[in-house]
Amino acid sequence: MTLITDTLSRAADTDAPLIPSLAERWSPRGYDPTAVIDESTLTTVLEAARWAPSASNLQPARFIVARRGSEQFAVVHAALVGFNRAWADAASVLIVNIADTTMNPGQDNPWASYDLGQAVAHLSIQAQHEGLHTHQMGGFDADAIVKAFELDVNLSVVSITALGVLGDVNALSADLLERESAPRTRKPLSELLLADA
Ligand SMILES: Cc1cc2nc3c(=O)[nH]c(=O)nc-3n(C[C@H](O)[C@H](O)[C@H](O)COP(=O)(O)O)c2cc1C
Repeated sequence: MTLITDTLSRAADTDAPLIPSLAERWSPRGYDPTAVIDESTLTTVLEAARWAPSASNLQPARFIVARRGSEQFAVVHAALVGFNRAWADAASVLIVNIADTTMNPGQDNPWASYDLGQAVAHLSIQAQHEGLHTHQMGGFDADAIVKAFELDVNLSVVSITALGVLGDVNALSADLLERESAPRTRKPLSELLLADA
């Protein structure tokens, strides 16, 4: 059976209109293992992260950018848990998302992870706008990343983003194919609004 999991069929069924890059963003697993993202597009995607807002403009987001084929890509890929490792090797780039948790010397930045998340959200929407796709992952061994890249203690490794070009989903295992084509759902907006006066 040929499954169709293109951007159009995976787009969010929203209750109110969204800009296309938001409505069409989803987290695929089926990437083209031959696709190379050109350097200017990759810079544009990272620039979106750079221009995200942050508390006191501290800009705590840090990234390890690992292009497929590099030694660093192999290290980041190896740190993923099995169910992510199974598909993420076909991504063009793996980006490790890291928060600098220091505000002032000796003082933690309580918004570091929040601001990193905003930066990654900006990156993912810019990527979508460029015709690319992203899939964020929390399933990985953070200690392995800290060790391999000799990261300082103030750097918190939060997540990894796969960035790439949609590929042939039928190359995925049956299990991954099932997840890839599962209906996309969200809680109703009313459940999110604790007060709506
Ligand atoms: C912080 C974070 C961690 C995630 N971890 C994983 C993961 O380890 N593996 C995975 O396949 N998807 C992971 N996801 C993707 C979510 O499952 C996905 O965003 C969610 O199901 C909504 O689907 P959508 O992005 O297609 O709208 C993660 C997403 C985020 C934001």
